[in-house]
Amino acid sequence: DVAEKGGYPDFMLKEIHEQPRVIRDTLAGRLVGGALSIDELDLSVEELNLIDRVYIIACGTSYHAGLIAKNLIEGWARIPCECEVASEFRYRNPIITPTTLVVAVSQSGETADTLAAIRDARVKGARVFGITNVVGSPVARESDGVIYTKANKEIAVASTKSFLGQVVSLTLLAMLLAQVKGKLKMNQIRLLFRELADTADQVERILAECKPAIEEAALACKDARSALFVGRGMGAAVSREGALKLKEISYLHAESYPAGEMKHGPIALIDEGFPVIAVATKSPVYDKLVSNLQESKARGAMVVAIATEGDEEIRKHADHVIYIPKVRDAFSAITASVPLQLLARAIAVARGCDVDQPRNLAKSVTVE
Ligand code: G6P
Repeated sequence: DVAEKGGYPDFMLKEIHEQPRVIRDTLAGRLVGGALSIDELDLSVEELNLIDRVYIIACGTSYHAGLIAKNLIEGWARIPCECEVASEFRYRNPIITPTTLVVAVSQSGETADTLAAIRDARVKGARVFGITNVVGSPVARESDGVIYTKANKEIAVASTKSFLGQVVSLTLLAMLLAQVKGKLKMNQIRLLFRELADTADQVERILAECKPAIEEAALACKDARSALFVGRGMGAAVSREGALKLKEISYLHAESYPAGEMKHGPIALIDEGFPVIAVATKSPVYDKLVSNLQESKARGAMVVAIATEGDEEIRKHADHVIYIPKVRDAFSAITASVPLQLLARAIAVARGCDVDQPRNLAKSVTVE
């Protein structure tokens, strides 16, 4: 058991530490002659160029990877993109035409709702791409093309390295669509790719350096009854995953809100010491987020901020700061998700929970 865990106390921590490798493996061989190449998708450039609508369909953590990718697909490729949980998508009547691309994201490749959504979308004429971690899984078999995340087997029930593999794969897909549509020039693609590849080193650094700050924040949160995760833009999407990770393994109630929505409800929850965990990395909406934090602090919140290295100002608005390296906003979900994983795990460990096998949850959900 100890050997299997590679010297780590649990599989979750081992898998979190595998993430730099996952990023590197997922990107290996993708830049060919200066252009992005995803041959497995099996769709000609002409066919890809016709795509005028994208649905990302998934469940759980995979859904959160999709929320991040929606920002990138719309931002770079300028194609309308919706991200929806499969159990909703399959029971409504979404607008699907032969130029609709459905991207099904599933670590296991066998989640019942995601599979049913794929089948339905194909009957309606959509092209379906799968993003999965399991070679030959039903999602892979039933899609027109598949990108395999290179996470290798994930054992901890709470997904970490698969999530990062999904985010990186979806980032590549967004870049590919932008390349095909001519929305990003080749030199921009190469620059983005280089910076995306650099996130492997940045995640490595986070893993090496963040531990003291994480432990301190975890101690401050462990006896709370509830926690609120907030962010804006990419930070809003990644904070959804932060809240899910925490509730899955620590049984602490956690919810995530776009910070701009706090005034419309969640701020009523805040009293002395209430934990607000903010993805506060530098971005075009950083100042807006800071003013939300000021409003929270004024009501007694205990703020934990994931912030960009060098940002001293944030200390004025946060009780605990976890610094991560600066990356472009488009890649901030990759780096910011790592301290959120570590924080959830540290809180769960401090609460005496079994982080690898949380109660009531299964690694894959093959029945509806
Ligand atoms: C379960 C797992 C989650 C996972 C979700 C979707 O709930 O516990 O970690 O995110 O299923 O699974 P999939 O295999 O489709 O990504």
